[in-house]
Amino acid sequence: MFGGGGGMVGPPIGGGGPPGSQQAGLPFGGIPYELQAGVDLLLAEEPERSDSDAVFTQLPTANEKKRLSLTSLLMEYPGMLALTTFLVATIAVATQVGPSLVSYAINHGLTPPHYDYAVVVACAALYFVSVAVSAGAQWGQARVTGRLASWVMNDLRIKVFRHLQRLSLDFFTEEKAGVLMSRMTSDIENLQQLLQDGLAQFAVQGLTMVVITAFLFATNVELAAITVFGVLPPLVAMSIWFRRASERGYDRVRDGIALVLADLSESLQGVRIVTAHNRQRYNIETHRDVVGDYRDANNYTGRIASIYGPASQMLSVFGQVLILGIGGLMFLHNPQEINLGQLTAFFLYVNRFFAPIQLLTQQYNTFQQGRASVLKLRSLLETEPSVREAADAVELPEIHGEIRFDHVSFGYDATVPVLHDVDLTISPGETVAFVGATGAGKSTMAKLVTRFYDPTAGRVLIDGYDLRTVTLGSLRSQLGVVPQEPFLFAGTIRDNISFARPGAPDDEVWNAVHQVGLEELVHRLPYGLDTPVHERGQSLSSGERQLIALGRAFMAEPRVLVLDEATSNLDLKSETLVEGALDRLLEGRTAVLIAHRLSTAMRADRIVVVGDGRLLEVGSHDELVALGGHYAEMFQTWMTQSHA
Ligand SMILES: Nc1ncnc2c1ncn2[C@@H]1O[C@H](COP(=O)(O)OP(=O)(O)O)[C@@H](O)[C@H]1O
Ligand SMILES: [Mg+2]
Repeated sequence: MFGGGGGMVGPPIGGGGPPGSQQAGLPFGGIPYELQAGVDLLLAEEPERSDSDAVFTQLPTANEKKRLSLTSLLMEYPGMLALTTFLVATIAVATQVGPSLVSYAINHGLTPPHYDYAVVVACAALYFVSVAVSAGAQWGQARVTGRLASWVMNDLRIKVFRHLQRLSLDFFTEEKAGVLMSRMTSDIENLQQLLQDGLAQFAVQGLTMVVITAFLFATNVELAAITVFGVLPPLVAMSIWFRRASERGYDRVRDGIALVLADLSESLQGVRIVTAHNRQRYNIETHRDVVGDYRDANNYTGRIASIYGPASQMLSVFGQVLILGIGGLMFLHNPQEINLGQLTAFFLYVNRFFAPIQLLTQQYNTFQQGRASVLKLRSLLETEPSVREAADAVELPEIHGEIRFDHVSFGYDATVPVLHDVDLTISPGETVAFVGATGAGKSTMAKLVTRFYDPTAGRVLIDGYDLRTVTLGSLRSQLGVVPQEPFLFAGTIRDNISFARPGAPDDEVWNAVHQVGLEELVHRLPYGLDTPVHERGQSLSSGERQLIALGRAFMAEPRVLVLDEATSNLDLKSETLVEGALDRLLEGRTAVLIAHRLSTAMRADRIVVVGDGRLLEVGSHDELVALGGHYAEMFQTWMTQSHA
C-alpha cells in the first residue's frame, strides 16, 4: 500500500479531492486533479509487494537470547569486519611511508656525493602512489564501515523493538516512555557513530602510533627514545586530565539536554492547562533555568577543549624543538649516527606521532558513550517480561467462555495488595457487570482476565485452563477488550476499526460502523472511512473515540468481551444506541462489563459490587435490591438523582 510506512497518513491515493478541499490541520489533502494522471501512471508501475516474512514469537529464540556486546554485534557480519581490518591496516601503513621516502630521496639523491635526480623522482612517484593507496583505502573503509554500521543498527533496532513487543504492561507503566525513546534514539545513534567511524578511527590511530614508533626506533634508537620519552609523559598526563574533565562535562551536557527536552515536551503537552492557569511566566522562568544550565555545561566542555587542543599542539612542537636541538647536535658531532635524511624523517614523523593521541583523546567520548549505550541496551534486552509464556504452553482451544477467579489476590506492587481473595465464576454466555467506587479494583480484575498481569496468589481460569498454561496468542485472539481510555492509532478510521484484522472486507467494516452507530459521523467526515484520525484521535470527541474502540471490538468477534467503562463518555442518545448494539454483540458471548452507569449494569445477568479489592455483593439486580446492601443504596441514590 501507498503511504503505509511513515507518520504521514491520508486517504488512499487516487481518491483525490478537488483543489482547495484541503482541510485545515489535515496532513494530506488529496492529489490535485492535474497531478492525478501522473500518480495513476506511477502506481501502475509500482511492483506488488509480497507478504511480509516478519514473524513474532512470544518466547525469544536462542539466537535472540545471545548477550548483546559490541563484539557480538560486529561478528554478525564477519566479511565486512575482515575487510575493514584489512583496510585499516593498509591506511595505517600507506599513510606513513611518505617521510621514509623523503628521507631516502635526501640521502640518496640530494646529499653529496649522491646527486641523482632519478632517485628523487622515483621517491616522489612512490610517495604519490602511497597517498593514492591510502586515499583509496580510506574511501573503502568509510564505505564498508558505513554499511556495517547501518546494518548492525538496523538489526539492533528490530531486536529491541521485538523485545519491547514481548514485555508486559507493568514494564511500560514503570519505565517512562521518554527513557525508552532515548534508548531507541540517542543510545542507538551513539552506537551508530561508534561503529561507523569511531572504532575504525581508533584502530587506525592506534596502529599509526605503532607503525611510527617502529619507524622511529628503526631509524635511530637514541633520538627516538629521547623524543618519545621526553614528550610522551606530559602529553599522557594532559590527556588523562582532559579525558576526566570532558567526561564530567559530557555528563552535564547530556543531563542538561535531557532536562531541556523534558521541560519542553511537558510544556507542549500541557499547553491547555498552562494557558488556562496563566502559568506562562513561571514556565518561561523554569525553561530559562534549564536552558541556562545546558548553556553552562556546553561552555564548560568548550573551555576544556580550548585548553587541551593548543596545549597538546604545543607539546608536539616541543618534540620538534628537541629533535632540532639534540638531533642537530648528534648530526654535527657524530654524523655516522644520524644523517640529514633521517633527521628530516624524524621531524615529519614526530608530528604525526602525537596527532593520534590527541585524536584518540578527543574521540574517547564517542567510545565511552557507545559503550554506555551498549550496557543500557543490554540491560533493556535482558529485562524478562513479568507475564511470561510457559515453555510448554498449550494452544487454548476454541473457548466456550467460562471465566473463573479462583481465590485471586493481586497487587501491582507485591507489597500493596489491590485485590484480596477474589472468588467468582462467570458462566459461558453470561454478562456480568462490575460496579463500585473508583479505585475499587474493577479494571484490575479485567486486566487479570486478559492476562496483562498474573495474580500474586490464586488462579484465573478460562474453561478450566489456568491462563498461565496457555499461549498468549491463543488467549488474546479470543478476547476482546475495550479499555477505559481508548487508544486510536495514527491512520484512518478504517485502520482503527479493523485493527485486529487488517484488510478486512468493506462490508464487515461497515457492519461494525453500523452496529456502534458511527454511520452519521463517518458520512459527515470528508473522506468517510478513510478520514485520518490524528495522533491519538485528537480530532475526535472522546465519545467518538469510544465508539471506534467499540467498533474495533465488534470486528474482532471475540468469544469473551471485556468492556471497561466503554460507554462512560457517551451522551445518553449514543449510549442507548450502543446498548442496543451491545445486546446483539453480547448474545452468546461471555462478557465482563465494568459499568459506569447503573442503567448499563442493570442489563447484565448478574452484578458484582467491588469495594476495596473485595467482592462485596454478587447477584441479579432484583436480588441485590432486595438484599438492601451497597447496591440497593447505590440504586436508591441513582433513582432519586435521575428522577429529581
Ligand atoms: N498500573 C498500576 N500500578 C500501580 N497501581 C495501580 C495501577 N493501576 C491501578 N492501580 C491501583 O490499583 C487500585 C485499583 O485500581 P483500578 O482497578 O484501576 O480501579 P477501578 O475500580 O477504578 O477500575 C487503585 O488503588 C489504583 O491506584
Ligand atoms: Mg477502572
